[in-house]
Order: sequence, then structure tokens, then C-alpha cells
Amino acid sequence: MSIIRIHPVNAAGGESGEGTSPSESLAGAPLRDPQWYHRPGTLRLPAPPPLSVYVHLPWCLKKCPYCDFNSHEFHTAGATPKDLPEQRYLDAVRADLERSLPLVWGRTVHTIFIGGGTPSLFSPQAIDRLLGDMRARLKLAPDCEITLEANPGTFERNRFRAYRSAGVTRLSVGVQSFNDEHLKALGRVHDRAQAIAALEEAASTFDTFNLDLMYALPGQTLEGLDADLSQALALAPPHISVYHLTIEPNTWFAKFPPALPEDDIAYAMLDRITERTSASGMSRYEVSAYAREGHRCAHNLNYWQFGDYLGIGAGAHSKLSFAHRIVRQVRFREPRLYMENARAGAAVSQSDEVALADLPFEFMLNALRLKQGFTLPQFSERTGLAMTSIQRGLEEAERKGLVARDLFRVWPTERGLDFLSDLQSMFLPDEE
Ligand SMILES: C[S@@+](CC[C@H](N)C(=O)[O-])C[C@H]1O[C@@H](n2cnc3c(N)ncnc32)[C@H](O)[C@@H]1O
Ligand code: SF4
Repeated sequence: MSIIRIHPVNAAGGESGEGTSPSESLAGAPLRDPQWYHRPGTLRLPAPPPLSVYVHLPWCLKKCPYCDFNSHEFHTAGATPKDLPEQRYLDAVRADLERSLPLVWGRTVHTIFIGGGTPSLFSPQAIDRLLGDMRARLKLAPDCEITLEANPGTFERNRFRAYRSAGVTRLSVGVQSFNDEHLKALGRVHDRAQAIAALEEAASTFDTFNLDLMYALPGQTLEGLDADLSQALALAPPHISVYHLTIEPNTWFAKFPPALPEDDIAYAMLDRITERTSASGMSRYEVSAYAREGHRCAHNLNYWQFGDYLGIGAGAHSKLSFAHRIVRQVRFREPRLYMENARAGAAVSQSDEVALADLPFEFMLNALRLKQGFTLPQFSERTGLAMTSIQRGLEEAERKGLVARDLFRVWPTERGLDFLSDLQSMFLPDEE
């Protein structure tokens, strides 16, 4: 079995490869008549699950060498955030949303996640317009969680307050490390002091926020990780996401791999993270996420519980359920191509109905990341399948000590979370 290297969810905007993906033809996906989604089919879903919306803002000041998300430097020499085509991009996102409305008609939106890229490059006025456009077209739940991803390198005093006034309820701050040498090796545009200043401002402005850290960094020791944890916990964040640095294909690090800590050190680091977050009152509710009571991320929880999401913006992914089918969509990745196509009413580059045979794996890929796992009724409600479709995988996983279950619930054991990729792969469909 292999050590876990779970990629952050980044709200469905990511996935490997820079620029245009091979499937990104200029023609895009065939335009479907909205009626098509409601036609009879083999699947039977009693009701659609909760709906979230993800918005992807694809630009960064500088591409980090480890990053395979759909993020792009804006290249013009001497360009500043003021040169971002904010309004043109938001026009495209609005057109994209309008075109998508028939697929989510009448449904309440429970969470919104504005991810990237670096959404905090966008001005508060632009975020205000974006949320205004969404409020005018979607039915938002009164307690709708609205998260915005922020990079400490784009932090200015008062900016976070202005995001809050625009309606953002939760900030997710990408810190990665508090060690200036590690930050440099990771190609980050901020230093330790900026990270601390941004987090202090987030804490004083928002009722809840997240701090992203990475571990098993080039040259990092267990003591180094301890120092990062001490600094992170001293800021009393309500939520921390901690990711094992992964070397993704098509990144700078894949071409020029840095020396990384051995696997047994990485294991010890993960144990230390779980121990120390727990000692400071946080619990590990997902493989990479730790929260105080009442501060779990509702948006990510909806992904992990196989809820629905409409993803708009460059490269965003959607998963939408209808009475007789579950559909996945991907938008054009490359920002310019996305803007052109979205404004012409054709933002979607790929659209596929999920095959019945793939549903058990798709469900388990998400639900097994959660410490609480899933309930048996949840599995049937969200996939339309009987529990027998995962019986064989469950028996094998139980025999290997990777899951436990009772009459109502199935959950991964500690060992299951440590070997999550192996556990998930037990639910892959049989080869034809
Ligand atoms: C898409 S990034 C967005 C946040 C923001 N752009 C930033 O970097 O500050 C979300 C998080 O994914 C994590 N991440 C990105 N690439 C990763 C990789 N190769 N390995 C592990 N974690 C990664 C980082 O912790 C990052 O904060
Ligand atoms: S700032 Fe975030 S999204 Fe942008 S390149 Fe770095 S890790 Fe990727």
C-alpha cells in the first residue's frame, strides 16, 4: 500500500496541466436542449442533493512551481492587478451563469466558493458585482456560506473588510508555511510577516476563516513542521487544511524535482499535525481538514457528501443531478478562450453523463475522505443505487481494516484514512 497524497479539492477548479487541455477543442460540447437533462433514463434519483456554486477566477501574480490548478500569470510586462480584465471576465461569468440557469431552476444554493487562481487579486468592487449578479439570478439560502480564497501576497489593509461588505462570509488564506526559506523554495509571493498580518486581519474581520498549510516541503524537518504548526495554532484559526506537497505532472517541480522528506518522516509529520490540532481543540473531520466545532467548511462537505455543484468560470467543473441522470461538465480552461466562448453562450467544453457503473467509485472517492463516512440512505439517495453495488468492495475493505460499519453508517478507520487511495480503489468498476 502507498502513502496518501490527496490532492486538495480546490472546489473543482483544478486538475493537471497548464493551459488548454487536449479535449479543449474550439467547438466545445454540443449544445443540449435543456429538456434533454430531464428525459427518462435508467437512473432513478428520489430528489436532487443540496446545490453549491463554484466560481473560478484564474489569475495569479506568479505561477507556483508545484501548482497544477488552472491558474495563469497575467503576462504583460509591468502588469499590475489593475490591468486584469475584471469586467470582461465578470461579463463572461454572468453569461455563463445565465446559460446554466435552466439546469438548476428553482433550486436553493447553500454555499458559494470563489476559488482560483488568486481571487483576492480581484477588487472588492468586482467581488461585489459578482455576488450581486449571482443574487439577482439564484435563490441563495439565508445562511449561504460564501468563501473567497485569498493569498497573503495580495493583502492590503481594509481589503478584507470590503470583501466582507460585499457579502463574503468566510476567507480561505493560502499560507503554506511560515518559514521564509520554505516560502521561497515554493515560489510564493509572500513572506512570513505578510502571512501573519493577513491572518490577523482575517481573524478580526470574519466570523470564520481557513488557513491552508502544506507539509513535507523541500528540506523540511519534523522540527520545522512543528514550528509552522506552533505559529499556525497561535493564531487560533477555526479551520486548517493541511496538504502533503504533491509533485503533479506538468509542473516546474515535476521537471526539476526538489529533494523531499522521506515517507516515514512525512508519516510522522501527519501524526504530529493530527495530535497538535486535536490538542488545541480542533478535530480532523476530513483527510486534510481540521476544524473547531461549528466551523467545518459547508461547501467542501457538500462535495464530499456527493452533493451537486454548478461550476462557472474558466476550467470549472460541475456535477448536476436530475431525476434520471447525473451529468458532469467542464468549462474552457484557458481564460481568453473561456471569455470568448462564454460570452457567445458556449462556455462548456465537455459534458458527459456519468455511467451507472462509475457511480459507486465516484461516490466513495468523496465520501471516504470524511471521518464520519456516509449513511446507507445517503448512498442510495445520491447514486440511485442499492447498497449491493458496493458490497464486495466494503467486505474487502473491512477485512483489511480500512473501513468500519454499523447498521446505519460506513466510515474509514484511521488506517483507512492513512491509505485512502488504496481504499478508494477497491470501488473501481470492473474492467470490461
Ligand atoms: C488552488 S490553491 C488556491 C489558494 C491560493 N491560490 C494560494 O495558493 O494561496 C488551494 C490550496 O491547494 C494547496 N495546493 C496546491 N497545489 C498543491 C500541491 N501540489 N500539493 C499540495 N497542496 C497543494 C495549497 O495549500 C493551496 O493553498
Ligand atoms: S497562488 Fe495558488 S493557484 Fe496561484 S499558482 Fe500559486 S498555488 Fe497555484
